[in-house]
Amino acid sequence: MTTRHPLTELVPGPVRIAPSILAADFSRLGDDIRAVEAAGAEVLHVDIMDGHFVPNISIGPPVVASIRPVTALPLDVHLMLTEPGRYIDPFLKAGADHITLHVESQGDLTAMLDRIHAAGASAGLTLRPGTSAEALVPYLNRADLILVMTVEPGFGGQSFMADQMPKVRRIRDLIAAAGRPIHLEVDGGISGTTAPVARAAGCELLVAGSSVFGAPDGVAAAMARLRA
Ligand code: DX5
Ligand code: ZN
Repeated sequence: MTTRHPLTELVPGPVRIAPSILAADFSRLGDDIRAVEAAGAEVLHVDIMDGHFVPNISIGPPVVASIRPVTALPLDVHLMLTEPGRYIDPFLKAGADHITLHVESQGDLTAMLDRIHAAGASAGLTLRPGTSAEALVPYLNRADLILVMTVEPGFGGQSFMADQMPKVRRIRDLIAAAGRPIHLEVDGGISGTTAPVARAAGCELLVAGSSVFGAPDGVAAAMARLRA
């Protein structure tokens, strides 16, 4: 069995950076991953899109399997799929340490979260900008992470939606009421300018694609700006 490093091994609280490889150069993906690991990233975010749940297609289990031996970073796999239940096992087999599901996707989310846990991975839930925080409530007894989307999922390089911050604060209160350690992650438009806004609202795990891999002065400088 694979040795996994679920995100439950990281105590929620300190700011951590999860570069999204969606914005990497896929012709030199291994080098780009090694660069963010060397610059101190704590997590690697992997966006999976099916062209149906979102209007874009990204990568599948074979690419996850090929990056697995390249990095020791935990692989945080964000499934933007209409039927995630069909693909959980292939992504676990490919080496995912963590899987996040959309609450808007089809299938029995409770059973899927349990299936992810049974494989030794951590499990998260995420929601589109238009979905209310209350949709998460039935799952807060088993989710290890909540991911707040601050763009409409599907593409990198979009603008941060500051109007999602009241929802972040509401989710932070729901997490406190749940009385369990649950990571609060944010994804979409995170840069040196918007990271402080997300942090002030309570997010501690910052996904960043274009601001890291597209930085003209390199990934280390970009990540330093996110932590500043
Ligand atoms: C969007 C993805 C994001 C994306 C973020 O659907 O979930 O992870 O890579 O990209 P940036 O940081 O460029 O907004
Ligand atoms: Zn993502």
